[in-house]
Formats: sequence, structure tokens, C-alpha cells
Amino acid sequence: MNDRDRINDNLNEMSDTIDCLYTTANSCVRNKLLNHLRRNVSNLSMLVQGLQIGESTNSSQISTGRLFTPDELAGYNGKNGNPAYVAVNGIVYDVSNVAAWGGATHFGLAAGADVTSQFASCHAGQPILGKLKMVGKMKE
Ligand code: HEM
Repeated sequence: MNDRDRINDNLNEMSDTIDCLYTTANSCVRNKLLNHLRRNVSNLSMLVQGLQIGESTNSSQISTGRLFTPDELAGYNGKNGNPAYVAVNGIVYDVSNVAAWGGATHFGLAAGADVTSQFASCHAGQPILGKLKMVGKMKE
């Protein structure tokens, strides 16, 4: 599935959720639906960033402009002097100098991996990725 398909999926989900919100009086259900919308917004912001990085990758404006396989990413685990990288929604970020990722770990997570689902469940809607240095994309 490519980024545009993911964007359309999120937009369709949001439209369905809004339809449900019109007919839901139960505040607990409404909160769940609103959280779902927030997750869609977070996904879309990351996907838009992905498209922007795609455009800039083409013009190789990113420091390395690299495309990573999961095996290549695993080598950037922050050990033995290697930088610490993580992937979120197809974008690879450098967390080597991020205090919250000290020792190349973060709340049980280790660098060198795709942490898309953990990011969505722990930081949905938080403007964190914009602070991180992008170093490339995951190979599709
Ligand atoms: C297991 C899921 C996660 C939990 C429980 C979690 C929890 C937290 C907490 C409590 C903080 C604030 C701590 C501090 O300031 O030292 C934080 C910060 C941060 N987290 Fe996570 N996190 C999770 C997953 C992730 C993932 C997957 C990423 C991937 C990029 C990430 C990136 C960050 C960054 C960059 C910060 C620093 C934010 C800043 O400086 O404003 N976290 N996280």
C-alpha cells in the first residue's frame, strides 16, 4: 500500500467516524470516536511529512537521501559507536542525540527498528516528529 492509499484510508475512516459522532449521545463512545479521529490526524501529518520527504529525497536535499531496508536499519542500533535511528511510518529519524532516547533505548524500545505502531499508541497527536532529524526513508 503506498502513502496515497494510506491517506485515502485515513480520510475515509474519518468521514465514517464523523457520521457516527452525529448519531452518538453516549459520551464514552464519543470520546473513543474522537480519539480515533486524533489518531487519523496524527497518521495524516506523518504521511504528509512522508510525501514532503519523498519530494526532497528526489532532489536529494536530505543529509544522506538514503533508503533503508529493515536489515540496514537494524545496524543503526546506537551500539558500538553506531548512530541510533528509528523508523516511523516509512521515515527514518536520527535519535542519537535525543535525551529521551538515551542509551539508544526509550521505554523498553530499542533503536534500529520500525516503531510506527508504538509511536501511534504512545504519542498520537503530539508534535514530536517535527523536532527529529530525518535521515531517509524505508525502502518500499
Ligand atoms: C512504548 C511507547 C512509548 C512510551 C511509553 C513513550 C513515553 C514517552 C515519555 C513519557 C516521554 C517524555 C519523557 C521525557 O521527556 O524524557 C517521551 C518523550 C519522547 N518520545 Fe516517547 N514514548 C514511547 C514511544 C516513542 C516512540 C516510538 C518514539 C519514536 C520516535 C518516541 C519518541 C519520543 C521523543 C523524540 C521524545 C522527546 C520529546 C521532546 O523532547 O519533546 N517515543 N516518550
